[in-house]
Amino acid sequence: MPERTPLISGNWKMNLNHFEATALLDKLRYLLTKEDTESVDVSVHPPFTDIRTVQTFLESEKVPIAIGAQNCHWEANGAYTGEVSPVFLAKLNVSYVIVGHSERRQLFGDTDVIVQRKVGAVFAHGMTPILCCGETLAEREAGAAHGIVTGQIHAGIDALKPDQVASMVIAYEPIWAIGTGQTASAADAQEACGWIRAKVAEMKGAEAAAAVRIQYGGSVKSSNVAELMGQPDIDGALVGGASLEAEEFARIIQFRLA
Ligand code: 13P
Repeated sequence: MPERTPLISGNWKMNLNHFEATALLDKLRYLLTKEDTESVDVSVHPPFTDIRTVQTFLESEKVPIAIGAQNCHWEANGAYTGEVSPVFLAKLNVSYVIVGHSERRQLFGDTDVIVQRKVGAVFAHGMTPILCCGETLAEREAGAAHGIVTGQIHAGIDALKPDQVASMVIAYEPIWAIGTGQTASAADAQEACGWIRAKVAEMKGAEAAAAVRIQYGGSVKSSNVAELMGQPDIDGALVGGASLEAEEFARIIQFRLA
């Protein structure tokens, strides 16, 4: 079975200007040891307006944290007022792009078709998509969670080759757990992530399923990360609120010490 290096990602959402971003990363680099960043991949996903500053800081200080984005457009250039090209992100050494976050799906109309295009564009420009999926509370209570998540995964990966799927990241983020303080239990999170891996195996084969990294997201904190990361099909965390504070995010990255 391939070794899946854990990936802990901080999704800052619409928080922290470029000065605040530098201050947070400056603290974070002193809190993390060489062993931390050798055993765990770490990415931060600042607002677009911070990315150039974050890139300059991380590269000049040689901090082994990958740069991520929260979204992008699917076209390389054109008359798309207000959008950001994946080409521009790649030029800033962005490694990971979150695609299909539930806030984008619910508030900004990102449909499965749009998500599919964005995943393709991220790959086309040499970056790695973090494809988000997850059900609402109403869908879960109606027993529809598996169907919803399966549909989102289908749309996101159908057009991809197995080796692309092997190299990407899928984030299971149940919407009822995002920003609510109500984390999915480790058992529920494992059940969903195991289901996702099984679906990937059906769609793209056992090798892709064994290699794809699956993150859990939704109220991840230093107090619950170790138990979540102890589950066999959970390979990382997509962290919102708790990534905005250096000490707390460092403790999450150091989940093995908990
Ligand atoms: P919280 O960690 O704030 O619940 O947010 C999760 C999330 O949406 C990460 O993408």
